[in-house]
Amino acid sequence: MVASVTLCDTNARVQLLADVVKEVKLGIGNAVPVGIRISQGKVNDFTAKWPGARSDAEVIFGTLAAAGADFIHVTEHEAWQPPFEGETDSLVALARRYAPDATILANGNLHTADRIANALENGADLVTIGRGALANPDLPKVLLQKREPRTFDGSILQPVANIKEAELSVRTVD
Ligand SMILES: Cc1cc2nc3c(=O)[nH]c(=O)nc-3n(C[C@H](O)[C@H](O)[C@H](O)COP(=O)(O)O)c2cc1C
Repeated sequence: MVASVTLCDTNARVQLLADVVKEVKLGIGNAVPVGIRISQGKVNDFTAKWPGARSDAEVIFGTLAAAGADFIHVTEHEAWQPPFEGETDSLVALARRYAPDATILANGNLHTADRIANALENGADLVTIGRGALANPDLPKVLLQKREPRTFDGSILQPVANIKEAELSVRTVD
């Protein structure tokens, strides 16, 4: 059977994620925590926003919580910013509100002591660090010693392994 999902229906869209969480939990029991990482932005559209704003956040976080997600890992480009126009709460704060019993992980440019503290105050249980850790493999010690973390230098990820024109134009054998 092929399920039909109306793409603009947030309930239907998140149901797929909820079903995956439920099935994984059924399969592995309580062996390890089961959760999901979720963001508004997509790999091909960093500016994407949930069209229903706060009510979408309520549906998404609430449905994941009801499915039994042990944790929800929320990521935004700048995690402390309000995620929608006219909103004052961060997405982390909304996750905490609508999934009160789940462990909330916060991610997104949280590389300084102030930003980490702010995320924790706003409902995160844990903060995850990507580029800040690449630039500061000693970040916990840097922060404990109240030093300024080193700034991430994106050039360490270069060159990007894009497919080059020369590779695309290779005449392959039939
Ligand atoms: C080198 C690199 C690889 C990444 N790979 C992934 C990935 O495979 N999947 C994903 O969801 N996010 C990926 N991200 C995004 C990070 O998980 C994170 O959300 C983003 O860097 C923002 O957090 P930060 O400010 O702590 O770095 C990657 C980031 C970097 C810098």
